[in-house]
Amino acid sequence: MSKRVLVTAALPYANGAIHLGHLLEFIQTDVYVRARKLAGDDCVFMWADDTHGTPIQTRARREGIEPEALIARAYDEHRRDFDEFQIGYDIFYTTHSEENRKHAGAIFAAMEARGDIRTRSIAQLYCPHDQMFLPDRFVKGTCPKCKSPDQYGDNCEVCGSTYAPTDLGQPHCSICGTEPVLRDSEHLFVPLSRHEEFLRQWLRSPADGGTTIMQDSVRNYVMSWVDGGLRDWDISRDAPYFGFPIPGHPGKYFYVWFDAPIGYIAATDKWCADNGHDFDAYWKADPSDTEIVHVIGKDIVYFHCLFWPAMLHAAGYTTPSRVHVHGWLTVNGEKMSKSRGTFVLARTYLDHLPADYLRYYYAAKLGSHQEDIDLNFEDFVNRVNADLVNKAANLASRSVKFVRGKLGGTVSDLLPDAAPLVERARARLAEVEGHYREFDTARAMRSAMEVAEDFNLYLTEGAPWKLAKADPERARAICSAGIYASQVVAAMIKPVLPHWAERVESFLRLSEPLTFANAGDPLPAGHELADYETLAERIKLETTEAIIEASKESLGGAQAEAEPGEAADADYEVPELAGEIAFDQFEPIDLRVAKVLACEGVEGSKKLLRFTVDLGPLGQRTIFSGIKRSFEPESLLGKHVIVVANLAPRTMKFGVSEGMILVAGDDDPGLTMPLLDPKTSRPGERIT
Ligand code: 2FM
Ligand code: ZN
Repeated sequence: MSKRVLVTAALPYANGAIHLGHLLEFIQTDVYVRARKLAGDDCVFMWADDTHGTPIQTRARREGIEPEALIARAYDEHRRDFDEFQIGYDIFYTTHSEENRKHAGAIFAAMEARGDIRTRSIAQLYCPHDQMFLPDRFVKGTCPKCKSPDQYGDNCEVCGSTYAPTDLGQPHCSICGTEPVLRDSEHLFVPLSRHEEFLRQWLRSPADGGTTIMQDSVRNYVMSWVDGGLRDWDISRDAPYFGFPIPGHPGKYFYVWFDAPIGYIAATDKWCADNGHDFDAYWKADPSDTEIVHVIGKDIVYFHCLFWPAMLHAAGYTTPSRVHVHGWLTVNGEKMSKSRGTFVLARTYLDHLPADYLRYYYAAKLGSHQEDIDLNFEDFVNRVNADLVNKAANLASRSVKFVRGKLGGTVSDLLPDAAPLVERARARLAEVEGHYREFDTARAMRSAMEVAEDFNLYLTEGAPWKLAKADPERARAICSAGIYASQVVAAMIKPVLPHWAERVESFLRLSEPLTFANAGDPLPAGHELADYETLAERIKLETTEAIIEASKESLGGAQAEAEPGEAADADYEVPELAGEIAFDQFEPIDLRVAKVLACEGVEGSKKLLRFTVDLGPLGQRTIFSGIKRSFEPESLLGKHVIVVANLAPRTMKFGVSEGMILVAGDDDPGLTMPLLDPKTSRPGERIT
């Protein structure tokens, strides 16, 4: 019996429509789940809407409806989009449920009982007009650093600096415009440092005796947060708040990020109750019996890799076995933009094209890494036409149609000269399950297309359409190879294109649905086919242009204002570089802590030192600096220095310099270098 696997995707907020950025993750998760099911694993996909918090509450207020009505509407819209995109969840539930209230209460009670909850008074901005404390993203004002107006309370979108909302100039409530006042309030905190040992153990790779699989880069930066010291986590919010009241703490509500991931548990509870499954076998199990796999974006790593495992561990629930982190989606090379029409809603896409093509494109681009991926519409059109239409559909279409049209509709054994191709196809089929398990769908798609290419060539060279009269049996055998390959390809891409596989199963009249295990053998001689059904059709660039046009329109009205999300914790943000700047543009400068790994004089230069520095999650850099007369290279080894990290690389006589090290002073010699305390600074951390 394979062990149980429970997979989740991040829970979408119930205050906005689903867009192509969301779908990247949801399709990735769905494909992973379908592949594991197809491989015979006992795998379920537990999912829900994320319904609590200030943004939902204020949006409902703006629309003049109750939050319950808002989340009910979002729920219906989300489900419709997901169903049309063939997201095969086992349950799509809501965090605003009795099950969630119950588990949030139970986890909180367990934590409180073991001393994991502390209260402390904090001063926060309060809007006297709206009579509520304002989360960081609900205060706007002038950036304390660059003085840009109209910036959120946590960070400046112009210069990238992070700060407290109390640092803003001319602060105002983003709901009503009133100037907020400072007010004290008791909050409940989880002292995360109490779980440091557990987290270190959980974060170690399985090879090190730990339990969790995650990408090395993710593990490294989460570990660097742990090394940097774990801060207390504020899990309470004051009324009015749309969420669950905290039992035993009148007037206090669970912060949405406390009960959101518990939504994974609550959805499981509901699904188990409805379908007669054992809840404890999922969430009160040993990770060696039950795998919990979370698929998330890189902005919410700290919730899933620090807070969440600590909560689960403290309260005696199953801790995650795997966290898979994907990058962002860009469209046509840039951040999705409403004005450019590249902020495309799921619904707008579906109005123009079938889900299959986007599912395929995403799968063909997504690997196991966490780099961003780009949806370039021209590339999208070319890729769909080249792979799905010209390779995979063409293979099936020409062989099935010919056998049905000219050869009586039955297949035969393959010719001996097809044997090497069949062997290659079987080998690729045997490997594909592993690619899916590693989230390497790009590799799986490439491999499937290679099967199609092999056999298309075989068909083209064998030219059965010229043989129909003279040697119909040879023509049948050649086409049967094409039919065999169509079956293998359909099985290989089935997690991505389940409808495609269904159509192939139907026109090949297969007695069993295709699996990775049963697709490798050719159909028996004499097996009769049904009529070919279209698998894919050419798409045009104009269609994608129409999507962009429609996106400009559909966002012109009510959706035009972006909803602020629930405050992310700036201290735990995954470092990302601001855009690259030219050498003479020092604004905005992305300053980062860097650790000096190596430093030496450059032969043949009186001025230059060559540095190798470590920028933590951003990797290592080589930097040349004309400061040789001011510093002994050895004295800088291991020091934490400040570098300009987004300077365009410069090719110099001695190599490429990938940044600039900050020094102060008028001239070399006589320069000084600002150094940071290695105990309180982390390589890669942004300095503002
Ligand atoms: O970032 C978001 O969109 C959140 N709604 C994700 C929640 S995931 C989970 F923890 F519930
Ligand atoms: Zn206000």
